[in-house]
Amino acid sequence: MKASDIIEKYITFFEKRGHKRIANSPLVPQNDPTTLFTSSGMQPLVPYLLGEEHPQGTRLVNVQNSFRAVDIDEIGDNRHTTLFRMLGNWSLGDYFKKEELPWLFEFLTKELKLDPKHLSVTVFDGYEDVPQDKEAVAIWKELFKSVGLDPQERIHYYGTDKNWWSRSGPPEKMPAGEPGGPSSEVFYDFGTQHDPKFGEKCHVNCDCGRYLEIANSVFMQYRKEADGSLKPLPKPNVDFGGGLERLLLAVEHQPDVFQTSLLLPIIAAIEKNVDKHYKGNERQMRIITDHLIAAVFISNEKIKPSKTDQGYILRRLIRRAFDNINILRGIDDMNLPMKPIVETIVEQYKETDPLLEQNFEEILNTILEETNNYRSTLSQAKKFITKRYKHVGDELMGMNEISAADAFILYTTHGLSPTQIESLGYTFDRQKFAEKMEAHQNLSKKGAEHKFRGGLADHQERTIMGHTATHLLHQALRDMFGKQLHQSGSNITTERLRFDFNFDRKLTDEEILKLEEIVNQKIKENLPVHFEMIPTSEAKKMGAIGLFEDTYQDTSKIYFIGGDSKHPEKAYSIEFCGGPHVEFTEKIKSFKIIKQESLGKNMRRIYAIVG
Ligand code: ALA
Repeated sequence: MKASDIIEKYITFFEKRGHKRIANSPLVPQNDPTTLFTSSGMQPLVPYLLGEEHPQGTRLVNVQNSFRAVDIDEIGDNRHTTLFRMLGNWSLGDYFKKEELPWLFEFLTKELKLDPKHLSVTVFDGYEDVPQDKEAVAIWKELFKSVGLDPQERIHYYGTDKNWWSRSGPPEKMPAGEPGGPSSEVFYDFGTQHDPKFGEKCHVNCDCGRYLEIANSVFMQYRKEADGSLKPLPKPNVDFGGGLERLLLAVEHQPDVFQTSLLLPIIAAIEKNVDKHYKGNERQMRIITDHLIAAVFISNEKIKPSKTDQGYILRRLIRRAFDNINILRGIDDMNLPMKPIVETIVEQYKETDPLLEQNFEEILNTILEETNNYRSTLSQAKKFITKRYKHVGDELMGMNEISAADAFILYTTHGLSPTQIESLGYTFDRQKFAEKMEAHQNLSKKGAEHKFRGGLADHQERTIMGHTATHLLHQALRDMFGKQLHQSGSNITTERLRFDFNFDRKLTDEEILKLEEIVNQKIKENLPVHFEMIPTSEAKKMGAIGLFEDTYQDTSKIYFIGGDSKHPEKAYSIEFCGGPHVEFTEKIKSFKIIKQESLGKNMRRIYAIVG
């Protein structure tokens, strides 16, 4: 059974049960600026899980290409891949546990023919007001009994760390408005030996490689509220996700994803072209395979390598694949075998993603161009070192040993990682390098704080209250005097806030009172304050206030008081800002203007206090 057969069987199975197949959304989300990549099937469905009506009904199914950048550093083991396909079925307030779990069991054991003896499940053990999932337990008990297995040994209980799912993780990490709920996972047991390196005893969530999570049914029935509580959604949903590549591992009873029928031909192409065996070189070959697959899929969406956002991830993937190919080959010459590897990848995936074949030339060119750019960066880096160590002096510590300081200069000027510098043939003191890195990061953190302070003298609570009050004041001034009015400066301390703006006369006492009234009204409404990272062009369209001309960044940090990017009309204020802010306007308590003055022609200043 090939990967494409699993997709076929899954879609047909759920279509027979009343589901409509929905399209695979683009890997780069079109209407969700909060994230760089689609990382699960539910992501494009959030509004519908929250209650909006879906045009195709209440039972949906699909296979979604997904990319998880957080997993980049985990690549190299036998199970992680950054790019994967997620099989998904959803009930939007339609069926629930008693349909979902038996269907899943039937699909796994009858359609995929997994031996139930290899299956175990986990269920939610309860958290605050959300009870233990007794209903799921009862259903699983029956299912295991029906195949003659003792449920006692097969059902395991976990808390929010393992058996709660939302895009942001456990309940305390969910932002207001986010849907989530308890989950029930299915694990496949390869029966391999436990590795005590991972703990005394093996269990389903152990990382030793014996058990693999292959399916996740999320009972999405809560929404996080602004006050931190979990409120039941009007209708509970099912959000199921199963990684296709992992299901294939179970079907083939093969614990190494890179040895499955899907990825083995790619490993074989690498073996042939670098003239090394997989055995003994697993880590490098896994990284090359994973990263080039992801690079192929991302390039297919017309993304080009760059310094920011998706382009940056693409650049990292290609450069890391390049480094690992060279580590295996021991040399870098113009015969880097990118083409045959990319060809094999497209061959393996074209059945389910025909566009890869259609766009092959463009994909290959994107990868080759970046490879060449990287090559010239590396050669500049080498020139720098050669020049530096030409006159052998105190600094040259060994044939290829360079100082940590020089390694760090290479890192900051050429964007090389320590591994990449080593792959050039240089060694250096990693510990000292790490110390320099930490000092550098602390410095840039300070720089960022300074940059984003927005006139804040410090980050004490009262100063932050004053900061949010300036956003309210800014909007209130614009409500009263029009959109041509804008902030020209501000300074906020724990004592008072100072706000400068373009205005050509003294404000009357009535106007001052009216301003105070508006701001205090907004404080009383206790509006939530949050930020989102939004493409600058979108933010402008939304009417966000800010000096965008000063920013060259594609993405901007936008603070919303009320509303959000999906409902900008519900926001009272939308402003380009670095923060920080209070979480809810009521925290400001009250707002009073204490003084106004002229700063010259068409420039006024207001002083106010909060609290
Ligand atoms: N949305 C769930 C997941 O990604 C199914 O695991």
